[in-house]
Amino acid sequence: MEISIQVLHGPNLNLLGIREPDVYGRETLQDVDEMVRAEGESLGVEVHCFQSNIEGELVNALHAAREVHQGIVINPGALTHYSIALRDAIAGIGLPCVEVHLSNVHAREEFRHRSVIAPVCLGQIAGFSLQSYQLGLHAVVHHLRQKGAR
Ligand code: DQA
Repeated sequence: MEISIQVLHGPNLNLLGIREPDVYGRETLQDVDEMVRAEGESLGVEVHCFQSNIEGELVNALHAAREVHQGIVINPGALTHYSIALRDAIAGIGLPCVEVHLSNVHAREEFRHRSVIAPVCLGQIAGFSLQSYQLGLHAVVHHLRQKGAR
């Protein structure tokens, strides 16, 4: 079975391209999704993308992923810094997950330095703009293949 990865985007990421372009760049969410899908193709894996501004919808998407996908790449947006519900959902489904951020959250305001999500992930990638998603995809696919997935 081909590896299938769920890419999740949290609140406000639908505004990419418009929102604070000096911080987040001029590419849109559609550009990100196209790029990450193309990267998936070159890695030989399926990529499914979903964005929501609603915490509960992201929790539901994580629960649904358990039966369908083998790994998660997530940019939780601001939920990174306080959503225990999202953290518990990631821990609960038991799929390998990589947290990604467009900006280098550690070089920004102090409240962005803390992630309640990162401890239940394989790791965190931050600060490489769109490329953060590509790196995140590589990381989770590499992990799965090391565990024997094709
Ligand atoms: C972000 C960083 C978060 O602190 C912020 O709330 C976002 C975007 C990023 O990708 O750099 O919404 O996750």
